[in-house]
Amino acid sequence: MDTHLSPSGRLVVVSNRLPVVLAKDVDGTWVTRTGSGGLVTALLPVLRHRGGIWIGWSGVNEVAGVDEALERATDDTGYTLKGVALNTEEVNKFYLGFSNEIIWPLFHDLQSLCNFDPAYWRTYCEVNRRYAKILADNSCKDDFIWVHDYHLMNVAAELRLTQSRAHIAFFLHIPFPPLDIFVKLPWRFNLLRALLEYDLIGFQTLRDQRNFEQCVRTLMDEVCVSGQGQVLSLRVGDRVLRMGSFPIGIDSNAFEKHAIDPEVGAMAELLNSQLSNRQLILGVDRLDYTKGLPLRLEALRNALQRYPELHQRITLIQVVIPSREDIPQYFDLKMRIERLVGEINGQFTRPGGWVPIHYVFRNLTRVELLAYYRAAHIALVTPLKDGMNLVAKEYCACSVEEDSVLILSEFAGAAAQLQNDALLVNPYDIEGVADAIYHAYNMDVTERYARMRRLRTTIREQDIFWWVDAYLRAAFATDLSAFPLPEDFVPHDDFAGIPY
Ligand code: G6P
Repeated sequence: MDTHLSPSGRLVVVSNRLPVVLAKDVDGTWVTRTGSGGLVTALLPVLRHRGGIWIGWSGVNEVAGVDEALERATDDTGYTLKGVALNTEEVNKFYLGFSNEIIWPLFHDLQSLCNFDPAYWRTYCEVNRRYAKILADNSCKDDFIWVHDYHLMNVAAELRLTQSRAHIAFFLHIPFPPLDIFVKLPWRFNLLRALLEYDLIGFQTLRDQRNFEQCVRTLMDEVCVSGQGQVLSLRVGDRVLRMGSFPIGIDSNAFEKHAIDPEVGAMAELLNSQLSNRQLILGVDRLDYTKGLPLRLEALRNALQRYPELHQRITLIQVVIPSREDIPQYFDLKMRIERLVGEINGQFTRPGGWVPIHYVFRNLTRVELLAYYRAAHIALVTPLKDGMNLVAKEYCACSVEEDSVLILSEFAGAAAQLQNDALLVNPYDIEGVADAIYHAYNMDVTERYARMRRLRTTIREQDIFWWVDAYLRAAFATDLSAFPLPEDFVPHDDFAGIPY
């Protein structure tokens, strides 16, 4: 996979957070736990083989003892971890502020939720400069630098100011919005110019890439886009860079393998026996307004009103993982969800018997998560907009019995790959989602098998290792015609129905 890298080059990964979680031991010393994300799993072989560095925020406000803990962790992980310290004001204005109160809502098409505070932009620039400085001090010209996500869009531009000629690539894990929405950003030109300082810009879907292309074509006279395949070339003055779409995958093998652990199987069986004679519908989401949770709950209520035969025959297990609760909108959302769960349960619960929604608000262990995936007959993944949505893929990978149904939002990036075999829904269409729940409940087992088998094949073939490989190939290929468009490509002006 890493044959594309320069022979002497290391891989330098930069992301907002490091792939380790820090916590204090009983004696007050910092201990690190390796994060379980797919990205770190996929990059680990390259990082270990080539030698590499991962630069990111430790996630804690304190500085004392953190560097030492990261050095100790470096010995275990096999690559170097370099922490970026953020003080409270920076956490507030860079992470919570610009990243999560401006870019996050705007790039998810929720412009009315943005708080365009000018102070946020200044701190975003300063913090990106700090990441770039640490990057400059810890990398050399042969390294391949891979920057991740919306928190760090300015890093290449800041690095170029140090005269660095390093090869620096970027991947946006969240959607890129359409022109009409992007132009609302007061710093739209600065941000586009900053992105164009990368050598490769990667998006999750062709739709995101086309949105970016349209912004560049409309707002930046000096940029010329060329090519016809999946990876395009952009000329800006005397610089040439690339952009392409690379849908991120999961470590599908690992999920399949862990899903059949006896411990997971026993927990799944217990769940099914405690909630017997019904189909379990699962929702697992980070607490976030982009996940469409209130509308999903309304859709469940609608299904129970319009299809009384579902009473006592379905139960929704809705897991919400705590997240960003310091941002007022997230706290308000939690209140709204909990009120709705209470209302719907109040409306339909039979004392001593059926409760339609089981609501779980906490972090799950991996065994618990996989047991929920395995136990559920239907997954309800209905974000209003999502870069990819890995829950949809993880659920399918763990459906080892292959008799379950995925209901998926049209507006999740994953819909581009999974649209033929998931039940695709518009999350704003309450009756449509309710009908999909009814359809899934009634789907016969032959159709379930056929759909789930195909979903699992796609997810297995386009896993996280495939993604890393496609990205690195696009960074280094000499001939871009090696990246033809997918067979089901829809031309620009031909968005019929489904937006992919
Ligand atoms: C999204 C972003 C990630 C981010 C994650 C969790 O998936 O694309 O970059 O790490 O949310 O959010 P948090 O704010 O807790 O890092």
